[in-house]
Amino acid sequence: MNAQFSIQELLARRKSGHALEQPFYTSQEIYDLDLELIFYKEWLYAIPACQLVKPGSYATVRIGAYDVIIVKGGDNQIRAFHNSCRHRGSIICKAREGQVAKLVCPYHQWTYELDGRLIWANDMGPDFDPSKHGLKPVNLRNLAGLVYICLSDTPPPFEPFAQLARPYLEVHDLENAKVAFSSTIVEKGNWKLVWENNRECYHCSSNHPALCRSFPLDPEVAGVSADGSVSAGLQAHFDRCEAAGAPAQFRLEGDGQYRFARIPLQEKAVSYTMDGKAGVTRQLGRVALPDAGSLLAFHYPSTWNHFLPDHSLTFRVTPISPTETEVTTSWLVHKDAVEGVDYDLKRLTEVWIATNSEDREIVETNQQGIFSPAYVPGPYSPNQESGVIQFVDWYALWLQRSLTPFQMAAE
Ligand code: FES
Ligand SMILES: [Fe+2]
Repeated sequence: MNAQFSIQELLARRKSGHALEQPFYTSQEIYDLDLELIFYKEWLYAIPACQLVKPGSYATVRIGAYDVIIVKGGDNQIRAFHNSCRHRGSIICKAREGQVAKLVCPYHQWTYELDGRLIWANDMGPDFDPSKHGLKPVNLRNLAGLVYICLSDTPPPFEPFAQLARPYLEVHDLENAKVAFSSTIVEKGNWKLVWENNRECYHCSSNHPALCRSFPLDPEVAGVSADGSVSAGLQAHFDRCEAAGAPAQFRLEGDGQYRFARIPLQEKAVSYTMDGKAGVTRQLGRVALPDAGSLLAFHYPSTWNHFLPDHSLTFRVTPISPTETEVTTSWLVHKDAVEGVDYDLKRLTEVWIATNSEDREIVETNQQGIFSPAYVPGPYSPNQESGVIQFVDWYALWLQRSLTPFQMAAE
């Protein structure tokens, strides 16, 4: 079948303000296009830079068919390479993360410097030129402590996003963070269902008892008003934060690909803990207002984040199959904060561990219902699910834009 043309039809008949039709959540063809046209093309959040603590620290990430090594060099630069040996293609680093002196292929021990140069290959004959067999680089940017990669050889511009993001992020001082805890879960649902669930809090009151102790249920917080306006109450919070030096204003840019807004938490809550009090006494960053709330940031298709005055949380969304998505959460605290002294790990992590688990359950249940031949896309609540409408519109726009040159080339 010529999948792209039927997708064109599905996109053309999409009802705005409604969920997508079943194939968008189930079909292998659309999943492959999602990878090809979105995940293989866009800048993707990979890891917090502080995860690589010293030269030789590495992390691997798998995006679709690609496996990538992100490694800190002897010069403290972070670089990314395709995790495929230049001899016969073996994976070089098998673990999710680790510490090495050099990158050594397990197959025939070709050995690469941390900057990707091939420095040793046994008995390759007099004509062999090691300089032609360095690891293939992957585009990488370190944005104020957040490492983004792009698998495309012709990446879209990163700078417009970086320019907008930098002032919001810099006050959180992520370069001086450490990973207090990280969790990776697999949700048996399409990656778009994971996002749709993230972009609304319509489900929160009945599903997230722990989160609701601090996270506000006001739909304006998770969503986007149709005309881009902000209520007087929310604007007053933005103004108060900005006056205290913490950028807060709602900004949705990049044709809807990324958003920043520093939202207030429930009254009296300052962090995502069961009692609403700070989770870490030694704070990460320079947000002087204890009740500044949470800087919510998302960048489609790979990440949403919460940056608080005391700690920060990053989430990475990675599709695994049409109906499986990996979600990695990292809790970041000041690098000098001491567990058991400045924070209690259970107290710091329990709200989002519970919330992630509750979200996994509802995403999986949503996916199961969509498998039914009786499924028809229903309407989103314009008020409660404006953020979901924004996500789905973004997705449809991105696919449409990418399909057009794709289709023309095929003709
Ligand atoms: S495949 Fe890596 S050394 Fe042979
Ligand atoms: Fe949720």
